[in-house]
Amino acid sequence: KKKVIIDTDPGIGSPVTDPLFDGADDAMAIFVALRSPELEVLGLTTTFGNVHTALATRNALHLLEAVGRTDIPVAEGSHVTIKKVTKLRIASFVHGSDGLGNQDFPPPATKPVDQSAAAFLVEQANLYPGQVTVVALGPLTNLALAVELDPSFPKKIGQIIILGGAYSVNGNVNPAAEANIFGDPDAADIVFTCGADILAVGLNVTHQVVLTDADREKLEQCDSKYARYLCKIMGIYFDYHKDAYFIKGVYLHDPTTLIAAVNPSLLTYTEGVVRVQTVGITKGLTVFDNTKKRYGEITAWTGMPTVKVAVTVDAPAVVELMMQR
Ligand code: BDR
Ligand code: CA
Repeated sequence: KKKVIIDTDPGIGSPVTDPLFDGADDAMAIFVALRSPELEVLGLTTTFGNVHTALATRNALHLLEAVGRTDIPVAEGSHVTIKKVTKLRIASFVHGSDGLGNQDFPPPATKPVDQSAAAFLVEQANLYPGQVTVVALGPLTNLALAVELDPSFPKKIGQIIILGGAYSVNGNVNPAAEANIFGDPDAADIVFTCGADILAVGLNVTHQVVLTDADREKLEQCDSKYARYLCKIMGIYFDYHKDAYFIKGVYLHDPTTLIAAVNPSLLTYTEGVVRVQTVGITKGLTVFDNTKKRYGEITAWTGMPTVKVAVTVDAPAVVELMMQR
């Protein structure tokens, strides 16, 4: 089994700059992981993004309780960006102000472990060198902190699969930036250049993967505690997509990324250096350098660590796997 840690901001998932909404694709991804025999979930680490970090922690504990998996530890992540910025972009308009479709669930009985997300990531990488895959579904602050905490972390972690960036397409926070990268662009640039084995899944791919209204109806008929929970929390996420994208369905950003850990062959990838713009009107832009591939040129970025970036996806197969699980 592949050992995975999911770094997450549940919530349910998507963008804009109003501090009062948010939602469900993180929850979908976590449930797919719990239902996948290919994976062993070592823990969840929490981050801000769809909601503030404290609420993400509460939601993570709640999700695990709802499906009887309180054996899985939750480590709370940073409440601020890597540069200690406290004014965060929180996407509650996408997922509901509680991040779980405004369900006002009761507080969970369980607690997070007494260890920061970064410390947990470093500990697990040391415990299982080269064997841990981190699936990062929110801003990359905790991973950047893990790199700062232990400079050998990039070599000890097996792989980092990131929902982050928009490669040759517009972002979803603004024309330049995808939400998770925009949340902490400085952290993202540290992670993309840290030398770890990285696979990035961006909006160019996830905007092809849609869970339709018809799929939602099928889920509603499904006698499963996972499906029942998702159906409760998904309403705001579906409404948001109708208003913002005029589609009858929702983008499966985080589940597609998780499924890249389950079955990497459902996507194709290219490889090159990715840098992140950290300031100005293009803050959060992910820039992919394939000049070397195209022209054999030596650029200022030649010799920097490369990452894999997803370019195509078998969308029907991803949706089918998500539904099955
Ligand atoms: C990403 O932003 C979040 O709102 C979603 O959960 C997803 O991780 C999409 O840009
Ligand atoms: Ca997310």
